[in-house]
Amino acid sequence: MSVDTTTSTTESSRTARKLPPMLSGGLPLLGHALEMRLRPVDLMQRGRDRYGDMFSIKLPGSPQSVVMSGPKAHQKFFRFSDEEVSMREVYKLMTPIFGKGIAYDAEPEIMKEQLAFFHDALRETRLRTYAAGFVAEAEEYFGKWGDEGEVDLYRVGNELTIYTSSRSLLGPSFRQHLSDEFAKLYYEMEAGLNLLAFFAPHLPLPAFRRRDRARARLGELVSTIVRERREKGLTEEDFLQTLMDARYKNGQRLSEDEMTGLLLAIMFAGHHTSGVTFAWTGILLNQNPQWLGRLRAEQDAVLGDRNDLTLEDLRGMPLLECAIKETLRMYPPIILMMRKVLKGFEHGGFWVPEESMIITCPAMAHRIPEVFRDPNRFDPERFGSERDEDKKNPMGWISFGGGRHRCMGIVFAQLQLRAIWSHLLRNFDFELVESRYEPDYNRLLVGPRMPCRARYRRRKRRTIVAAA
Ligand code: HEM
Repeated sequence: MSVDTTTSTTESSRTARKLPPMLSGGLPLLGHALEMRLRPVDLMQRGRDRYGDMFSIKLPGSPQSVVMSGPKAHQKFFRFSDEEVSMREVYKLMTPIFGKGIAYDAEPEIMKEQLAFFHDALRETRLRTYAAGFVAEAEEYFGKWGDEGEVDLYRVGNELTIYTSSRSLLGPSFRQHLSDEFAKLYYEMEAGLNLLAFFAPHLPLPAFRRRDRARARLGELVSTIVRERREKGLTEEDFLQTLMDARYKNGQRLSEDEMTGLLLAIMFAGHHTSGVTFAWTGILLNQNPQWLGRLRAEQDAVLGDRNDLTLEDLRGMPLLECAIKETLRMYPPIILMMRKVLKGFEHGGFWVPEESMIITCPAMAHRIPEVFRDPNRFDPERFGSERDEDKKNPMGWISFGGGRHRCMGIVFAQLQLRAIWSHLLRNFDFELVESRYEPDYNRLLVGPRMPCRARYRRRKRRTIVAAA
């Protein structure tokens, strides 16, 4: 039987010409850049309210920027191959820190090999070591707190996760002796991440010079540890060890500079993202105290009067797991993900041409009421087996991205957050200080705006047991 393809071809070439509608309100030259900078989520919401899953905005430097939201559009976005869309363009401001030819700056084949090294560093046996590290770091950090006081949750999250990260990346001995220097170098590199770094990363500015000096010094520190381990025949259970043992497919070892770059890539991927999620979790739980009670009861059920938190314990806390997932739904630290289109494509009756930017926005898409019921309410039960709102809408929940570039640190991040909150739930009561806690869109990874203070009071052992 012969099939007449004329109509469908004509139809598809007609849709092939139809670009996603352009959102009103762009300024001459700047387009929507200013609104994107100041109120990114409102901008995305305005576009979705007007046009639905696909619409265009105007951003400098890109002929067409298309926002894709909703589970179907996310599936399209995340299932592209690296040959169809590119992340290099988007993450190029990281190149002076990671290094040339590292991660997204590498050719797709090499990038795949480099990212695959991380899988080894995150395998099951390693998770046990990292989990023990999270528990030890939380005990040490909160052990220094008094019986009561005031802290900034944003600061606490970022400090504590610097310690957990440096321990998991470079080992406990580095963590003990050099983590203050590491934190300083890391912050100097981070201060070199701004809009200028995107367009002219090598201008002779003091911030860029400090960034480059810090990167060079960190390279020296990593080289020293690598040589020491090789000379003494030492092996450790950390990310660096995985990179030292790794080989490219052609048998070649990683250079020390590549190891430094990849360690920094992991650090930048996992540090603030976890730190701000820690802070939002504290805010949301204390704004919804009924959840504090339920989570404490879960802690008691899992641990009784034990204090030795294990990997198995951390895996057996479904309510805490849902509460953190819900926090990540309401306040995903990565509010936008972008790709440059290398091959034009059709979706939803629209044509998206080569050279366009495509954008997803978890912070907006996570509030779509058809996907998440009553989306502005903190309701961890939506992820429980009775409702399964995420599973019913594959790729509706995209706090960790999706598809081939989905976050590799999902388990690591969740275990870390559970370890920290398990400790705090069992040992402290909190009271929020600010009248409002709002996202700070001035930061690349969006957390609560500072100050975001909370008062704490150490729970007496008697209170804990009585509650149990
Ligand atoms: C709450 C904490 C975290 C959040 C919300 C988060 C979120 C994300 C997201 C959204 C992506 C995808 C970016 C894109 O598609 O453009 C991503 C990628 C990635 N994340 Fe995470 N992340 C977190 C923690 C971590 C941790 C702790 C690690 C490492 C230990 C990590 C390692 C990575 C890596 C290596 C990638 C790149 C994967 C690839 O390109 O194939 N992340 N993360």
